[in-house]
Amino acid sequence: MSGKKVIVIGSGAAALFLASALLPANNVTVITKKSKKNSNSAFAQGGIAASHLEGDSVAAHTEDTLYAGCGHNDGKLTAEIISEGKTIIHELLKNGFPFDRDGDGEYRLGKEGAHSFNRIFHAGGDATGRLLIDYLLENIQKGNQVKEYETAVDLLIEDGRCAGVITKDSGGRIKARRADHVVLAAGGCGSLFRYHTNDQTITGDGLSLAYRAGAELTDLEFTQFHPTLLVKNGVSYGLVSEAVRGEGGFLTDENGRGIMAGRHPLEDLAPRDVVSRVIHEEMIKGSRIYMDRSRIPHFETRFPTITGICRKAGISVNEDRIPVAPGMHFLMGGVLVNKWGETSVPDLYAIGETACTGFHGANRLASNSLLEALVFGKRAAEHINKKPAGRWNKKTDRPINAVYHVPEIPLHQLKERMTIDMSITRKKDRLKSLSDWLNTLPSQEINVKDITIEQLDCSHIWQVAKLMTSSALLREESRGAHFRSDFPETDNQWRGKQIIQSKHGTVIRQNEGIWKPWTVCS
Ligand code: SIN
Repeated sequence: MSGKKVIVIGSGAAALFLASALLPANNVTVITKKSKKNSNSAFAQGGIAASHLEGDSVAAHTEDTLYAGCGHNDGKLTAEIISEGKTIIHELLKNGFPFDRDGDGEYRLGKEGAHSFNRIFHAGGDATGRLLIDYLLENIQKGNQVKEYETAVDLLIEDGRCAGVITKDSGGRIKARRADHVVLAAGGCGSLFRYHTNDQTITGDGLSLAYRAGAELTDLEFTQFHPTLLVKNGVSYGLVSEAVRGEGGFLTDENGRGIMAGRHPLEDLAPRDVVSRVIHEEMIKGSRIYMDRSRIPHFETRFPTITGICRKAGISVNEDRIPVAPGMHFLMGGVLVNKWGETSVPDLYAIGETACTGFHGANRLASNSLLEALVFGKRAAEHINKKPAGRWNKKTDRPINAVYHVPEIPLHQLKERMTIDMSITRKKDRLKSLSDWLNTLPSQEINVKDITIEQLDCSHIWQVAKLMTSSALLREESRGAHFRSDFPETDNQWRGKQIIQSKHGTVIRQNEGIWKPWTVCS
């Protein structure tokens, strides 16, 4: 089956892999807010995880993923993704993607937090995402169009299905682009917080557009704060990959004390949520935290991107210590999808960080996100390829009259409140006060014709902040990246347990929030 019109919103790894896996007969348009190279995928340093070494296996990688995810993952789907991801990595290897090798021609596999084996394939040292995006752009189907500097401002919903996208280009022109299928691949929502690792274009658009369209969102409280952003004098310069700790880097306070000793059996390579929490606690006590890289030979060759980030921050190659602090990195929750990436709105798909597939659970295992992006890019493409063409008659265009609520406060104030109250540790009274504040902010109504892209970004950020805070209030337990200091005792009881019952916890639809408790079995 072929010949469908498909619109993909976003230009990261999930979007481009999907575009390359759709049959050539389809009419595919990739729409992206800025340049096609603006995405979170392009920033990925660590790499892509897949078992390769003798003794390692899909089962071991699955077990590590479930451990990191506090058992909140969908176990069956997790094993499937890891197995399919391994096949995709082998195809990339076969097709000549330049994963790094050592002098003997063997793949140089890195290690990151909570992995029991060295299994991180990387490229260009710490430039895996950038090289992957370049590779995918080169290999995109010839007929596919990539529209840069065009923003999706609303989804067209007709007869209960997604019939296309309303967009606005950099000249303010509005278009109604009709489609058989629309795929949201617009990343997560790093911009909700003061410090984050995301591309500047990532403002929760995919989540907000889906919510406006009536789709279900889930698990928005599971926000992964990466432990180590280079932060100097209050300015964030970028990510210091977990791979640095995999090569021997370790976290210290200003006196050189190793802060992870005695905090988790895996110490500096504990799951990300654990490491971020330890750093957060230390910083609250007044410590300054550093990544000590003195044990890593040839740092600048192995980590050229981080060396460049250090240089921008005025940290020379001779300095052993890099000042670090945690920052928002990845959203485990997102638009609720099934195993093909279909949302609860017919003909609307979500993939990559925008989606919640159930793979990452309550805390993502390092270097599992590009893996999921590729697997779900391919799965959604295969699903769309099989759908019959021409099911929908063209409708006469209706007037475009979308309206947005834009908060009348400077955006940095909103980020500041989110950073303080939706932080690495959370508490009911703070969340409640944040939620009340968010829900009563003065705002103006602006229609689609008049709204600027900056105002639209603010509107999305505000919408997602409200949904995330409601979700965090609903989940009265600590699990993975959602740590409630008023429910501290539940932390860690989940690790190593298999969990049955419903796949997702908090589900949010327009004007509705539901928490489905899980059942734990040992
Ligand atoms: C990192 O390199 O530390 C980030 C990799 C990831 O988020 O999986």
